[in-house]
Amino acid sequence: SNKKLLILPGDGIGPEVVREVRRVIEWMDRRRSVSFDISEGVVGGAALDAEGSPCPDETVAAARAADAVLFGSVGGPKWDSLPFEKRPELGVLRLRKDLGLFANLRPAVVLDPLADASSLKADLVRGLDLMIVRESTGGIYFGEPRGIEIMADGKRRGIDTEVYTEDEIARVARVAFDLARKRRNKVTSVEKANVMQSGRLWRAVVGEIGRAEFPDVELEHMYADNCAMQLCSRPKQFDVILGSNLFGDVLSDLAAALTGSLGMLPSATLGAPDASGRRHALYEPVHGSAPDIAGKGIANPCAQMLSFAMLLRWSFEMEEDAKLIETAVQRVLAGGLRTADIMQTGMARVGTSVMGEAIVRE
Ligand code: NAI
Ligand code: MG
Repeated sequence: SNKKLLILPGDGIGPEVVREVRRVIEWMDRRRSVSFDISEGVVGGAALDAEGSPCPDETVAAARAADAVLFGSVGGPKWDSLPFEKRPELGVLRLRKDLGLFANLRPAVVLDPLADASSLKADLVRGLDLMIVRESTGGIYFGEPRGIEIMADGKRRGIDTEVYTEDEIARVARVAFDLARKRRNKVTSVEKANVMQSGRLWRAVVGEIGRAEFPDVELEHMYADNCAMQLCSRPKQFDVILGSNLFGDVLSDLAAALTGSLGMLPSATLGAPDASGRRHALYEPVHGSAPDIAGKGIANPCAQMLSFAMLLRWSFEMEEDAKLIETAVQRVLAGGLRTADIMQTGMARVGTSVMGEAIVRE
């Protein structure tokens, strides 16, 4: 049966970079018999304008019916003054919630062999390839009680609560162990078990899952603060890093900085497999809608392209095709083409579509 792919281009540069992925899909179609059953939907500001909601029910239904969702980006100045419940950014939040997408995967890969070739950082990160698995529906961003309250003395206090059940920890741990098996077979689980109760439980549960279900995968526990330091000083020691919503958020931004531009970073968010073994998943670049460059034809399409490669790998089990795209991006960069955001002296500056065409050619 055909793979069902839902494409949600969204706002700003979203449609511009998604268009380049479409070229790759057309190429795949022409070249071989793989055919996708593709539908396109509206989300974000575009959906707000067309349907009055940043994530219309039809979009949610289409996402549920799809085997995978390729998401562009949402938001922009046009909608910035709207009240919170009308903001385009709610589009992606609703999809994550309604599809139960609890595991956020953020690879930090240095694809560009020429990046800062002579710097100290170049030695640290050359060939870097790590994956951060962040729990994304629980923890301190959602735990109760939360809020800002007035105390007896009239002063305010702010409260957030980190809560994790063992099931929440176990399911995201399984995603990390699974991934490690397909990579270099090592998981580094981070928490602050020395000072946090949820951290103690995190360490215990990840250890239990590891021993019982993944004895072949190397498991290491590390305090999150130490992990931040190790990421800066010796990032290549890591394969898969597993962390809570909060620690995963901070560490994945840190890892992103190791690799360079936002325009190069893909991500995936996965849900639990259902009875038939199918899991919902949404793939999107880490960057937003980049209103400052939207409409100019200069956005870097690589992050969106690499998000599609992740989709092929994790949702469609098309490892070879995923590699083909990643290698093409790498070769185009090695050949000297650069969009403005990753421009270096001596390289050729090109726009979105020239970059996209070059990737297809490779
Ligand atoms: P942003 O990621 O859109 O842009 C930050 C900076 O990076 C800008 O200078 C932009 O031009 C540049 N940039 C981003 N992607 C690029 C690419 N592919 N090629 C070249 N340059 C690129 O983040 P910002 O400015 O904070 O947010 C803009 C809008 O996007 C806001 O409405 C925000 O809420 C939304 N947003 C949406 C996200 C999503 O759809 N998941 C994620 C992050 C932000
Ligand atoms: Mg963040």
